[in-house]
Amino acid sequence: MAQTRYITTPIYYVNDRPHIGHVYTTTVCDVWARFMRFSGDDVFFLTGTDEHGMKVEKSAQTRGIEPQALADENAAEFKRVMEKLDLRYDHFIRTTDPEHERQVASFVETLLAKDAVYVGDFEGWYDEGQEEYYTETRARAMDFRSQVDQRPLVRAKEKNYYFRLSAFQEPLEAWFRDHPDFVMPESRRNEVLGRLREGLQDVPMSRTNFTWGIPMPGAPEHVIYVWIDALLNYATALGLGAPDGDWHRTRSKYWPADYHVIAKDILWFHAVIWPAILMALDLPLPKHIYCHSWWISEGQKMSKTLGNAIDLAAIDRYLDDYGHDMWRYYLVTRGPLSATDSDFTAASFHDSYNTDLVNTVGNCASRVTAMIRKYHDGVIPNERQGGDRLVVGDVDWPTVTAAAVTAAHAAMERFDLAAAVEAGLGLVRQVDAFINQTEPYKLAKVESERPRLDAVLYQCLEAFRIASLLLWPVIPRQMETAWAGLGLKVDPDAGNLAALATWGRLPAGQTVEKLTLYPRRERPEPAACSASS
Ligand code: MSP
Repeated sequence: MAQTRYITTPIYYVNDRPHIGHVYTTTVCDVWARFMRFSGDDVFFLTGTDEHGMKVEKSAQTRGIEPQALADENAAEFKRVMEKLDLRYDHFIRTTDPEHERQVASFVETLLAKDAVYVGDFEGWYDEGQEEYYTETRARAMDFRSQVDQRPLVRAKEKNYYFRLSAFQEPLEAWFRDHPDFVMPESRRNEVLGRLREGLQDVPMSRTNFTWGIPMPGAPEHVIYVWIDALLNYATALGLGAPDGDWHRTRSKYWPADYHVIAKDILWFHAVIWPAILMALDLPLPKHIYCHSWWISEGQKMSKTLGNAIDLAAIDRYLDDYGHDMWRYYLVTRGPLSATDSDFTAASFHDSYNTDLVNTVGNCASRVTAMIRKYHDGVIPNERQGGDRLVVGDVDWPTVTAAAVTAAHAAMERFDLAAAVEAGLGLVRQVDAFINQTEPYKLAKVESERPRLDAVLYQCLEAFRIASLLLWPVIPRQMETAWAGLGLKVDPDAGNLAALATWGRLPAGQTVEKLTLYPRRERPEPAACSASS
């Protein structure tokens, strides 16, 4: 039975153009979704845009256009970029979708009915850029400055609707105790626990100082606070707030989410406020919040002024210079899935291309197929003699490849994407070592060694084939080229990874082309590779 899987990215603000940060989170989710789909699971991958709130209203005013027009323009841009980068989401949600708006209003009505939301006066320290309130203790610890843009926090007072976050102090602590991998990685979990121990206070649920949002049910002079509106997207996209609707019928089975993937800037909302809302709504909590760190660039925080931002123009140049696979490969293997930031550098990008894609994957593919063409007329030989597998050298290939498949799967389950890639890449390296050990070029000189030569050639190509299946989620384009060149029909959407990755599925007797997957490249001129202004 196919397991249902649900993975989400944050929904991105439409007052910003897409850049590496957005692309990164979406790419790691795409890799995970592809792997799970290929494994036969029933996956729902959600991404989208966060379109309400003061920031969007202000940006639109600055441009002299309606907020909806700004949202339409930038949501289309996000979609275009995702398409261009082969990011295959199942649904792109926009918080201005009427279906989302209706369900948010209905969720808020439920919260009001349950007395989880009340009207009251509130005073606190407010980060205008982040639209977030802080307690006195927290604000002092932050030196009364925004941790994101360093602007001073302001003292703000509002008559508003409030969400009784304080009522969830104990349930949340219990939840964290019972679910040690709810927030991953562990250092992020500890960060949340530390702040949780400072005590929770109720949070505003609505605003009155602007109008670009979903009206508060029964009090249209208030709009629902953008973060509540935004967090609910994970539930509205599955129709959880409209039990009679089509989305609920076809998608509610995906809840709870396996992974909400986010970055450290929005951890508190996802790790504390979101679970408390779900508790108040009597909905199950997601299994994991995976919180990654940030990309910096050439040793520094990305900024327009420094000109080191990896924006769309820079991404385009990397795609042109190195191809889609390398772009994904670099993000996935060098990205900040751990608790430390990752430094995007043109030099490490180039080195990683040469070392891993050219010298390892590409070289193995061309070396093996070239030998088959040279020593066996391009026809895949047989590794068997008299019905038995001929074992040459000391690699027990069926066991080694099965272990790699298991390792890749286990790594994906815990969102360790680099380890999953390593399972595939490790196989490729083993093929190279195996060639050096068994020396097929020497076997080819001795007629009586023919059966052993055939077995070696078969085993190299078969191990490479299995590696290509494991590597497909991260470097799909050239793995598909390889399959075509080997005459293999592989459809990852068929969800048969385990069956395909069984040793011995490579059909002997079929003709293969010599594969050239990743051409060697000179390092581009620094100017051509660093960011645009
Ligand atoms: N709209 C909110 C999220 C609401 S989710 C219910 C938001 N949007 S955002 O456009 O600012 O995007 C934030 C997300 O973009 C981060 O959590 C992260 O996924 C990604 N990144 C933005 N900059 C980044 C880096 N420099 N590095 C890595 N990812 C970063 O916050």
